[in-house]
Amino acid sequence: MSVIAVTGLQWGDEGKGKLVDLLGEFAGVTARFQGGSNAGHTVVLGDRRVVLHHLPSGAMRRHVRCVLGQGMVIDPSTLIEEMHTVESINGPFVPNRLTISRRAHVILPIHRQADALGERTTGVRIGTTLRGIGPAYEDKAGRRGLRMLDLTGDPGRLRAWIEAIHDAWAPRFERHGLEMPGAAGAFDMCTEWGKALGPYIGDASLVLHEEIVKGTNVLLEGAQGTLLDIDHGTYPFVTSSNASALGAPAGAGIAPSCITSVLGITKAYTTRVGEGPFPTEEKGEAGDRLRDAGHEVGSTTGRPRRCGWLDVAALRYAVRLNGVTSIALTKLDVLTGLHEIKVSTGYRLRGRVLSEIPLDDLDAAEPVYETVEGWGEDISGARDLRDLPAKARRYIARLEGWLGVPASLVSVGPERGQTVIVKNPFRE
Ligand code: IMP
Repeated sequence: MSVIAVTGLQWGDEGKGKLVDLLGEFAGVTARFQGGSNAGHTVVLGDRRVVLHHLPSGAMRRHVRCVLGQGMVIDPSTLIEEMHTVESINGPFVPNRLTISRRAHVILPIHRQADALGERTTGVRIGTTLRGIGPAYEDKAGRRGLRMLDLTGDPGRLRAWIEAIHDAWAPRFERHGLEMPGAAGAFDMCTEWGKALGPYIGDASLVLHEEIVKGTNVLLEGAQGTLLDIDHGTYPFVTSSNASALGAPAGAGIAPSCITSVLGITKAYTTRVGEGPFPTEEKGEAGDRLRDAGHEVGSTTGRPRRCGWLDVAALRYAVRLNGVTSIALTKLDVLTGLHEIKVSTGYRLRGRVLSEIPLDDLDAAEPVYETVEGWGEDISGARDLRDLPAKARRYIARLEGWLGVPASLVSVGPERGQTVIVKNPFRE
């Protein structure tokens, strides 16, 4: 039995969806443990491209049980839409194939509208996905959030709770002269959501515990990435949850000792959407080339992603923090055709060279680059390390050396099959 936490080592969009879908073949359960509809996990099946926002990427396999953990914030209308999409491909969800934690919090229309207000209040532009994520977590921490269990509870209590949430936001809307969405409309929506999702709402923590006791293989799928983690990322330019693997036990409701390994996902270069520091960003031609070759456009928002070179010093930090046991290197094919590949292996800060990114001193720090030889051969058909040109293999070996962990998977294209499985993480 293995319980693998899958986590992004960068600023999200590392390709977690593809890898969780691929590893789903060997798993009995996949679970999301934080975030909500800000995530866009893309799964490509032949000519179909499905973007999942709430459901774990294992949903695309019929035998896999899906769990939405209590650390999530859920936008029920988006979730219901997503369930319909998956059902049209995979057949109907039955309640024991999907469990939505009764303790997960609900994103209301007012949270989506309040998302834009956050930036006006502090004057700091974060560039959120405007999906209401921050305001919903704000209500959770303020002990006035609405939980999934409330959708099927006493209607009088539900109405009063929704009104209290609206009252709490009212002064901020008034200050900015913005009209509030009505509490009555939200109550009607919640009642409908309760009817549609009620059969799936349950004790996600217990479901996971029972599966683990039975010996089922479990994948815990993180959304966003370590550098967007609210405690460990580039604060305040972060999301509102623990997006690193550190959030997995709390958000899934399982003991930390249940997790048997941590798979860290990194692209072969770096991208970021939204505002905030990105020291290895390439604003010129090199960045444009990565964006075009990697089709780097946000799968939730459609925003073009900022692109730059691999930041090994940031990866070292993420590997240490998450306790990564092996890495999956994605989009290696995007580097094909580059004569030279730049990689930042450290940071120069006040005359010293640091091996880890100095997150709280980035204004004064400068990346230190090394150059690695590129390759020209098409690698999108590689299925084994031996299929890769020697220079691509050397790039992977250098990365393993810099990070001190092995690469278990190398992705060379968007399809499930376009993957070199060096060592299956479920067979370690
Ligand atoms: P929020 O999560 O919508 O509050 O956005 C906070 C920050 O996280 C913004 O910079 C977003 O662009 C970023 N972000 C949120 N979700 C994702 C994701 O799934 N991939 C990449 N960036 C994300």
